[in-house]
Amino acid sequence: MRKNHDERTSVGIDWDAEAAAFDDEPDHGLRDPEVRAAWAERLRSWLPERAGDLLDLGCGTGSLALLAAEQGHRVTGVDLSVPMIGLARAKLAGRDAVFLVGDAAAPPVGEQRFDTVLVRHVLWALPDPARVLRHWRDLLRPGGRLVLVEGVWGTVTPVGIPADHLTALLAPLTAHTRLERLSDDPRLWGGAVQDERYAVVATLQPHEAEDIRPDRANLG
Ligand SMILES: C[S@@+](CC[C@H](N)C(=O)[O-])C[C@H]1O[C@@H](n2cnc3c(N)ncnc32)[C@H](O)[C@@H]1O
Repeated sequence: MRKNHDERTSVGIDWDAEAAAFDDEPDHGLRDPEVRAAWAERLRSWLPERAGDLLDLGCGTGSLALLAAEQGHRVTGVDLSVPMIGLARAKLAGRDAVFLVGDAAAPPVGEQRFDTVLVRHVLWALPDPARVLRHWRDLLRPGGRLVLVEGVWGTVTPVGIPADHLTALLAPLTAHTRLERLSDDPRLWGGAVQDERYAVVATLQPHEAEDIRPDRANLG
């Protein structure tokens, strides 16, 4: 991977250079019908049953955004990389979806609020995850949810966010947090994986988005 010096992404990967081949990875492009079906099934279980407004931050080439749109959600995708956004726009052409170039840590969505903020494999690359999570929480409507898919990749020099760290950051911000382990489902990755992969669905109380107290946080 080539490096760049954009301070908005702390890991120094040149995402523009990654864009053209990004979808070659089974879990990125979802080209294998079995992998695609596995992600569609998980996503359906994580997203609200009722279709709503969904913000996909660091949306990349838009593979999850497309699944969400197919499940009826109105998608806004944001990514720092112009080439990634170009591929996402092409992938969702003709759908109820808009794509914006911008920083996931401070998305350019004005006063708009969302039923779901979906983020896969991005938080680990952002400086100051605690501050970013507070901002994402504030982008939700009452009763809204954060759907975060993260992991710790590699066994020699691991990078990423361990699940217990992420759930601890979310506990004071949201009313309920559900952790789902994903490492044991090879269909999601196009093969067996050894490292830590997981999703967290963190939900706000209805009508209490501005008033979640730490003592009401609940892990389960
Ligand atoms: C590992 S890829 C994940 C893409 C997509 N979420 C997925 O799961 O297929 C990380 C993405 O985050 C984007 N990204 C990294 N830092 C960002 C930032 N500060 N703001 C917006 N996008 C960012 C990159 O351009 C890249 O598209």
